[in-house]
Amino acid sequence: MPSVTVKEIHASVPAKVILFGEHFVVYGTRALAAAINCRLTVGVSGREKSGYHVKIENIPTFGLELDLEEQRGGKALTYKDFSSATRAIAYVKAAIEYLQEQYGLGREGAEIEITSEIPLSAGLGSSAATCVATIAALRAYFGIEGDMNKIQKDAHAVEKLVQGAASPIDTAISTYGGYVLVERNEVKRLRLPELDLMVGCIGSIPLSMDSTKATELSLKTKTLVAGVRERKELFSGIFDPLFDAVDELTAQAIRAIEEGDSARLGALMNINHGLLDAIGVVPRRLSELVKVSQELGALGAKVTGAGGTDDMGGIGSVLVLPGESGARIKAAMEIAGALAMDVKTGGEGLKIEPGY
Ligand code: MEV
Repeated sequence: MPSVTVKEIHASVPAKVILFGEHFVVYGTRALAAAINCRLTVGVSGREKSGYHVKIENIPTFGLELDLEEQRGGKALTYKDFSSATRAIAYVKAAIEYLQEQYGLGREGAEIEITSEIPLSAGLGSSAATCVATIAALRAYFGIEGDMNKIQKDAHAVEKLVQGAASPIDTAISTYGGYVLVERNEVKRLRLPELDLMVGCIGSIPLSMDSTKATELSLKTKTLVAGVRERKELFSGIFDPLFDAVDELTAQAIRAIEEGDSARLGALMNINHGLLDAIGVVPRRLSELVKVSQELGALGAKVTGAGGTDDMGGIGSVLVLPGESGARIKAAMEIAGALAMDVKTGGEGLKIEPGY
């Protein structure tokens, strides 16, 4: 059993945007993601009692607190029982259960405090960020040795446990920061210049949302990935060339970023958006944000992350290369009820800070 070596650990990780290739990446095509300057921190410290107590403060949306040893009907809860707005807790619980199974993490327990600037269910990687930072903080706190690659692999395993199918792209970008290319499920870190982008985010989970709706939203990525799979199987002859197109598109986009060719990069974003629409992950409200950005002079705009559907409230995010039109696009997004954020790509990855 690993021994406790420090009093307190803080692990912080960035949010992410997928620049090119989301969804298609689940089937092995190339996808490019970047860390952005918006972070989530997990603090782990000692506790008088055994068991784990978790406190979450999601700055854009909600705060909650829970004893993870809670029983329901005399039975201890597992991560499968957390399927509403407490979804973030499902990732924490799954991380603890996974570490207990893999490394014999004991039952002495700890206080876990999560502070996040990342909107939930918005395609900006809050789930992966929770997994990576929780795993990293607990591993460091309990003295489980291992490098960043090990943390990323553990976090990806936990994400898959909770969510079903998942490519490694989200956990990789949370861990390494910068830019990450995923190709045939292999993660490669890339050095590319920073980009100034804008994210428009529709509808993080509001406090007032009823639990049925929140449960649906918490399963949003899973539902969307399953929907794409269904359509892919139904229309395989049509989908196959779309996959090849996205693979080539990602390769061309990397060259455009390297060469600083913003016009070409923007045009590729617009094409990627069209392909995401074709596979059915663009709800009306996100489509409108993309169209309005393009109309106001954006060089490129697209849905980013898992996207959404109208019957799940059109929740999700768009990514815009605003060119000279940033202020106008931001104002239009706010009028449309979106949270508009200026973001910089290439943010720092996982940082672990011990307190003795
Ligand atoms: C979600 O952020 C990205 C998806 O491509 C799913 C995945 O890669 O696991 C939609």
